[in-house]
Amino acid sequence: MKDSIRHLIQQALIRLTAEGVLPEGLTPAIQVENTRDKTHGDFASNIAMMLAKPAGMKPRDLAQKLIDALPADTAISKVEIAGPGFLNFFQNSAALAGRLEAVLTDSRLGVRKTTPAQRVVVDLSSPNLAKEMHVGHLRSTIIGDAVGRVLEFLGDTVIRQNHVGDWGTQFGMLLAYLEENPASAETELSDLEQFYRAAKQRFDDSAAFADRARELVVSLQAGNDECLRLWARFNEISLSHCQKLYDRLNVKLTPNDVKGESAYNAELPQIVDDLQAKGLLSESDGAKCVFLDEFKNAEGNPLPVIVQKAGGGYLYATTDLAAMRYRSQQLKADRVLYFVDQRQALHFQMAFEAARRAHFVHDGMQLEHMGFGTMNGADGRPFKTRDGGTVKLVDLLDEAEQRAYTLVKSKNPDLDEAELRTIARAVGIGAVKYADLSKHRTSDYRFNFELMLSFEGNTAPYLLYAYTRVSSVFRKLGKGIDEIAGHIQLDTEQELTLAARLAQFGETLNNVGEKGEPHLLCSYLYDLAGLFSSFYEHCPILTAENEAVKQSRLRLAALTGKTLKQGLELLGLETLERM
Ligand code: ARG
Repeated sequence: MKDSIRHLIQQALIRLTAEGVLPEGLTPAIQVENTRDKTHGDFASNIAMMLAKPAGMKPRDLAQKLIDALPADTAISKVEIAGPGFLNFFQNSAALAGRLEAVLTDSRLGVRKTTPAQRVVVDLSSPNLAKEMHVGHLRSTIIGDAVGRVLEFLGDTVIRQNHVGDWGTQFGMLLAYLEENPASAETELSDLEQFYRAAKQRFDDSAAFADRARELVVSLQAGNDECLRLWARFNEISLSHCQKLYDRLNVKLTPNDVKGESAYNAELPQIVDDLQAKGLLSESDGAKCVFLDEFKNAEGNPLPVIVQKAGGGYLYATTDLAAMRYRSQQLKADRVLYFVDQRQALHFQMAFEAARRAHFVHDGMQLEHMGFGTMNGADGRPFKTRDGGTVKLVDLLDEAEQRAYTLVKSKNPDLDEAELRTIARAVGIGAVKYADLSKHRTSDYRFNFELMLSFEGNTAPYLLYAYTRVSSVFRKLGKGIDEIAGHIQLDTEQELTLAARLAQFGETLNNVGEKGEPHLLCSYLYDLAGLFSSFYEHCPILTAENEAVKQSRLRLAALTGKTLKQGLELLGLETLERM
């Protein structure tokens, strides 16, 4: 809708320019916003205020000229001037109703991508396999998953890449420990955190062990078979822990999406040679670096991307350069999104720039770091267990489900055990995910069980419950939500407002995809649920005054239900028919 209004304004501008009212050569960015208060129309533009000066006119006078020059459009019922010179557009309710009727029978709910479809690589989760996955990787996993789903729904081809940390010196220590305790490997590895700590303890206590660990790193790097076997076994076990979590979190990641750091090992010497050949390398204290003038340290000297250490070892950035080249050349990506902690922002800015200079990526490829803030405890301090350790993801999810179980049981003591468990899982896991997704991606966020499990406010329980209210209407009716179609009429204010918001689903998803910000979808769904509530209160559905009104309201309810369900699914939340 906004696009078509922009288009109308564009045509009016062309006309006014041809008539000499506006000077030639103006190319303003035409802004059209949704209005908050529907008595002021549905959309507003400040274009007359923007162009008043170059036109040498008062904003309200120019606004009037624009209204006169606007081509007629059946979707718009009227345009008014407001305040200092805003143009307020009122949608034609019959046209709006007609659009929603079409959406109701469309499997994609009328959603189309407003820009051409792309091949998008989503770099997400990417834990370090040496340790157990902890809460720090939760945000990347959940946010990356939601954005990937939205892009797919919009029609992009999404290629997920789990760039796990499966290489590095800490593996020497782990392999030495695995070698020492071959029999207990399976059992001990069931608790990776424990295993890591035990290995570290041995490393600190025994010089012989530490020597063996260093030797193993060297043999591993030299491609020794036995070492590689141990290493592969270790990663396999560690990855299976991750996969269990992905499944439990209802995240669309599979073992096929894993392409770890080690996958690029063979290409690293070539990356360095290429940089050399392109004249981009300099040496600094024996290390090979790409200096980027636009990045400076506190003293004003250019900062380096170090690609090879003095001892010959390669670095995190070298691997990322190789990965970018692979994503460009092999995966043919148009766009690559990195869901990684905000603290790595500088690393990505510099690595992207180095890759561009070296032409490791094709010119049009978009590289975007989708950084996120730190997850803190309810007290605002970094999230830790009571004794100061890192919080394991498994423990966190267990607690969430347990709390949800208690909560749901207290509200609904008659539910049988199996159903209670199912609901507790959807609510508990959903709450953890939704709390994260609904916050601004780049801000730090406070993890708080009480708030995320509340049935009030912008939470998973609230939205899941809103959906069950819609489905209960259809249960009473004895009809499926998918069997509802036909004519919609919008009479009351609640119907109009709900309908206008329903029509914004596609626009919302396009914004989420463009910005990589799922909280926009959360706010939309929260708003929609609230509008449905007031519609439900003011506009009786099953007891409506006549059959035509009843059918129309059922259709609005069905579309609300479908939109909520689809929206929650795109966020990776499981919906329930009752709770
Ligand atoms: N393994 C890294 C970490 O946990 C994240 C990797 C992100 N992806 C990338 N291409 N660098 O910090």
